[in-house]
Amino acid sequence: MPDAGRETVRDRNDDDARRTERDPGAHSEPSSGGAEQAVETQGESPLVRRALSAAVSRETPDVITPPLEQPEGPDTPIARAAQAAVAMQNGQEEWPRPKACRVMTVANQKGGVGKTTTTVNLAVSLALHGNRVMVVDLDPQGNASTALGVDHHADVPSIYHCLVEGRPLAEVAVEVEGIPNLLCVPATIDLAGAEIELVSLVARESRLRRACEAYDSDELDYILIDCPPSLGLLTVNAMVAGSEVLIPIQCEYYALEGLGQLLRNVELVQAHLNPELQISTILLTMYDGRTRLAQQVADEVRSHFGELVLSTVIPRSVRVSEAPSYGQSVITYDPGSTGALAYKDAAKEMAYQNSGQVQPAGTEENQA
Ligand SMILES: Nc1ncnc2c1ncn2[C@@H]1O[C@H](COP(=O)(O)OP(=O)(O)O)[C@@H](O)[C@H]1O
Ligand SMILES: [Mg+2]
Repeated sequence: MPDAGRETVRDRNDDDARRTERDPGAHSEPSSGGAEQAVETQGESPLVRRALSAAVSRETPDVITPPLEQPEGPDTPIARAAQAAVAMQNGQEEWPRPKACRVMTVANQKGGVGKTTTTVNLAVSLALHGNRVMVVDLDPQGNASTALGVDHHADVPSIYHCLVEGRPLAEVAVEVEGIPNLLCVPATIDLAGAEIELVSLVARESRLRRACEAYDSDELDYILIDCPPSLGLLTVNAMVAGSEVLIPIQCEYYALEGLGQLLRNVELVQAHLNPELQISTILLTMYDGRTRLAQQVADEVRSHFGELVLSTVIPRSVRVSEAPSYGQSVITYDPGSTGALAYKDAAKEMAYQNSGQVQPAGTEENQA
């Protein structure tokens, strides 16, 4: 016997989220909006709420059924969403794997520009398409660990132990549940002190590099490093560890401020510590296609960085911001949502960068 009261709240919750997805401005904080509070007042445990949320139809609930009979059907957003949801259940196409492990630092000293979201969702997308990936959480807040559902309370062996005590990465990396081929090295609050502790240690800028080199990187295709919002020793360690920097840029007015400082830091690391370092990829995040400002920021970034900017832009999407509270990436939380499709497209572009293979034609849905 279904519980009628709960049904109503669920429906309302879902409608509300869908409305917000179309019009993020409708709520200032959608994920903590009234509907969710209403669910809470039902006295449900977090587990029940989680199960409910997984069971309710998500962003594209009414699209998964009818068009499936026509696999070669029109390439509409609805068809894409349906295909993505089905692909998630039935296994995925394989993307090219790089010849050697790509170590990519996801950096931007601004907070809240989408570094963690980008790291996590690219990593999950790549892993689900045949690449072996390790996420290194280098932010003391441990947001990437949370988003991947990896335990990071104070006693957990973490990246701190690798950096400060020289413990091998292999000892602290854990498998991410439900995503084969994806490992995560968690960050705990200990890392907050590492910035200072590192100062007096030998080879303080290259400790992460040593840890990565000691790991048998033949076993990995990507190491993605999620940096804290600063340009301190942790970020420098990340830039010394790899040869690629991926910069997420939020499509907002202030986004370009401070970028000069980041570029200067990359040049300094190039000049003194890691000549191989280059900015390989720029990803535009939280794009709101309804505003002229977002388009202007996108144009400006493209005119400055040209080919480095991925064609795919990541739209603002409520699903993207909800996913971490379920210990999930948006790719698994709601594979047919606009945010999941965009991150999948961005990861695919990355996989085809320098692969020598031509990327199969896609859609231009998430391009700006
Ligand atoms: N495309 C997006 N749409 C909506 N919210 C987003 C999107 N990308 C990130 N967010 C949210 O914005 C906030 C900051 O993102 P985060 O990835 O943590 O940034 P950073 O790691 O740079 O500090 C988080 O609450 C995240 O859920
Ligand atoms: Mg972060």
